[in-house]
Amino acid sequence: MSDDLAQRLNQYVKDLFVREDDILRFVRHQTEAHGLPLINLQPHEGKLLQLLVMLLGAERAVEVGTLAGYSAIWIARGLPAHGQLTTIEHSSKHAALARAHIERAGLSDKVTVLQGDGRQILRKLQVDAPYDLIFIDADKVSYPHYLEWAAANLRVGGAVLAHNAFWGGGIFRPDTADGLGVVQFNQTLADHPQFASTIIEVGDGLALGVKTS
Ligand SMILES: C[S@@+](CC[C@H](N)C(=O)[O-])C[C@H]1O[C@@H](n2cnc3c(N)ncnc32)[C@H](O)[C@@H]1O
Repeated sequence: MSDDLAQRLNQYVKDLFVREDDILRFVRHQTEAHGLPLINLQPHEGKLLQLLVMLLGAERAVEVGTLAGYSAIWIARGLPAHGQLTTIEHSSKHAALARAHIERAGLSDKVTVLQGDGRQILRKLQVDAPYDLIFIDADKVSYPHYLEWAAANLRVGGAVLAHNAFWGGGIFRPDTADGLGVVQFNQTLADHPQFASTIIEVGDGLALGVKTS
């Protein structure tokens, strides 16, 4: 398939299936207006993530890396009415904006934003394990650590998902700590005896591991 045809097909899927509502558009706009980095999921990645949440029948989800709450809204909307998402954000500025967006989306009863370092907060969340899903989208150097947390704290049949699994192509020349973190994460996931896994070739790569044991 030519690059041109691949691009047209990609656009066809986006136009037909990816509908952002006013809230999601507002969150993206506010992310920029408040000077936050524009590193949230793309809308078609958010839609896929939401469908995976639904397919999994996830009720209890964890996210590491909230930013302004864009992906959290996609995830939370895929959960059932009684579902719960705990999302972890290091920056107090990002966490405050995310809370405001989640409230505006009418999701405050479903989503809890915890401010702090992913590793430290995940340690505290262990007491309420097992979880159905963890979505990793924070500091890349910690991706391997977050994967081990997933292996220990997901239910069998639960899933780990990680954004930026292609690291913008940096996986082929991992010369930074971030790039090395992603490469190590991908390799460990591929070899992991407790996960059946792949990378979905969407956006910057969405790694997926289903816990098998
Ligand atoms: C790529 S953005 C998350 C985007 C978000 N998932 C979305 O799609 O809307 C990464 C976020 O992780 C946060 N972060 C970085 N290091 C972290 C850490 N150690 N623990 C928790 N959050 C961290 C950053 O402040 C940033 O807001």
